Amino acid sequence: MRTRTMLTALIASMALAFPAVAGQIANTPEEKAAAAADEIITMRSDLAREFIQPGAVIDEETFKKVCGAVGKRVKDITEKTGLKIRHAAVKNRNTNNAANDAETALIRKFEENKNLTEIWEKVELDGKAAKRFTRPIFVENACLACHGVKDSRPEFIKTKYPDDKAFEFKEGDLRGIISVTVPIN
Ligand code: HEC
Repeated sequence: MRTRTMLTALIASMALAFPAVAGQIANTPEEKAAAAADEIITMRSDLAREFIQPGAVIDEETFKKVCGAVGKRVKDITEKTGLKIRHAAVKNRNTNNAANDAETALIRKFEENKNLTEIWEKVELDGKAAKRFTRPIFVENACLACHGVKDSRPEFIKTKYPDDKAFEFKEGDLRGIISVTVPIN
């Protein structure tokens, strides 16, 4: 009984750590893409709420625990699964995440319809048929410490991102999108 409980706990924790690759949760390519996007969105939101507390010093170390940790996890999932994950925003901070025309069109769709929670498209990935799953990312109260009032941004952001556009957001605003592209047969 005890072994079984431990085994169940182990499987549960593995599924939490790798929901995008855990066969029992995400079977189809579509499920894998959706699971990866949802994991990233939830992870960022949870970390921001955990580390952005009233009175907390917000510096580069804080960033490493929030959007920095998310960036690492994206890399990790990409390497382990071959899924292609991309963040994009019109008001971007890292210029690598600047929305291209197609992404800007997706962002507009989510802006126009706040009830729209996902968009699926048929695309090509390395010359093969693939599907791209896109979800909107919304701004929460905890995000404002770094994506809120321009002058109140932590110093490291002002210096490190001279072309920063990812500020002056309000709670509930659309921050950007996350897209996960997965090959289909
Ligand atoms: C401690 C500061 C901090 C907090 C809190 C924070 N972010 Fe960020 N965020 C950053 C930095 C710095 C970057 C740029 C990272 C990079 O260079 O890739 C970034 C990048 C992003 C990006 C990638 C797109 C872009 O513009 O480059 C998204 C999306 C994002 N943040 C959303 C959020 C959301 C949503 C929250 C709240 C749940 C949040 N952030 C909380 C500092 C923060």
